[in-house]
Amino acid sequence: MSEKKARLSIDGIDEPIELPVYAGSTGPDVVDVRSLVGQGVFTYDPGFVSTAACDSDITYIDGGAGVLLHRGYPIEQLAEKSNFLETCYLLLNGELPAADEREVFENTIRYHTMVDEAIHQFFRGFPRTAHPMAMLCGVVGALSAFYHDNLDIDNSEHRLLAAHRVIAKMPTLAAMCYKHGMGQPFMYPQNSMGFAENFLHMMFGTPCEEPKVSPVLAKAMDTLFLLHADHEQNASTSTVRLAGSTGTNPYACIASGIAALWGPAHGGANEAVLDMLYEIGDESRIEEFIKRAKDKDDPFRLMGFGHRVYKNYDPRATVIRGICDEVLEELGSENDPLLRIAKKLEKIALEDEYFIERKLFPNVDFYSGIILKAIGIPTSMFTVIFATGRTPGWIAHWHEMLSESYRIGRPRQLYKGYTKRDYPG
Ligand code: CMC
Repeated sequence: MSEKKARLSIDGIDEPIELPVYAGSTGPDVVDVRSLVGQGVFTYDPGFVSTAACDSDITYIDGGAGVLLHRGYPIEQLAEKSNFLETCYLLLNGELPAADEREVFENTIRYHTMVDEAIHQFFRGFPRTAHPMAMLCGVVGALSAFYHDNLDIDNSEHRLLAAHRVIAKMPTLAAMCYKHGMGQPFMYPQNSMGFAENFLHMMFGTPCEEPKVSPVLAKAMDTLFLLHADHEQNASTSTVRLAGSTGTNPYACIASGIAALWGPAHGGANEAVLDMLYEIGDESRIEEFIKRAKDKDDPFRLMGFGHRVYKNYDPRATVIRGICDEVLEELGSENDPLLRIAKKLEKIALEDEYFIERKLFPNVDFYSGIILKAIGIPTSMFTVIFATGRTPGWIAHWHEMLSESYRIGRPRQLYKGYTKRDYPG
């Protein structure tokens, strides 16, 4: 029970309305406004900038300090000491696994990596030129047709089984999106391989050659997945929660998250960063683009800069910057012209008053696109990779929501349309 109270005086309502104030384990207090509807008023918060829509134990962000914790563990420590699958386990179960639990979890994920052969037919129905996100959204939603029958969303074990299935199948489906566009045969997952290694094998392997994946690139890919694993109540995770609050099945929920992630203000930003770097084309044109980003009459924004929550360096961007150097060295592309433009652009923007004043720092997407491009992944696949990494976060939030009492999500509105009027004639 909350001791702290907020009091809200509204013209026309005699007594101030008393509202409970709750403290989380860390972070800002929240004012519980649920009783306001009983007084005939709603709160107004487009973009949910001041609104907490749920309780959660999974991820904590302090945007001012540039802190990101999963179940209390800093992202930098997870990136250095853990790996993607262990982080998935942590997000889903709340604790790091013991050695035997890790082995069981890894085997479970391996066991679920294949997709039904009928899914191959789905892909054949898509045009070769289809955007990989369009295909991913469709086929993930279609998984409901295969796995929904024996799923009781009120049963925690069933929910975990769905979570394992979707985490395991995402890299397989992601690689199929790529292979379909390339006109190459789909590669079956190799259960002897690690998660990211397997993904790169399914992307770049062919049935004509022995599997061969660079351990440096596999490690970089694994860390990229890990850095995207969760980010509390962002647009796509909130979409998954909202869809899940209706009681719909997890595959439909994840498909809705994929759809929300697709936009350039969210998961599409790393693709947009690369497009921007190509458009800049030469270091001599950086100033011109910085000027455009600052011009209020120009819709252009510096892609990969700024964040709704981080008003400091995105801690994931710091890790990614290091990986970027390792990957380019492995591939012998240290002098990549795009990287040179990116580094110079970053330096100029970080010293510019406009960006300093607005606390606009590079975000996770600023460097991830350069790494993915160096690995040989086309820009249209970037958001698919983000979706593969974010899947454990989406499904952990869905699982958490269903483990507690929840209500269907139903925001209200400030109506500004016509009042009642009669149909003419
Ligand atoms: N370039 C130039 N100006 C910017 C930028 C930018 N990238 N981002 C914000 N601003 C300005 C904006 O014009 C506004 O200026 P003013 O106060 O003078 O009107 C001020 O900074 C605040 O911006 P905002 O739009 O109110 O901030 P927001 O929290 O609503 O938007 C954002 C956050 C990420 C959508 C935005 O910073 C942006 O569009 N960035 C570029 C796209 C991008 O990199 N997105 C990836 C986000 S990280 C991945 C993820 O978590 O999904």
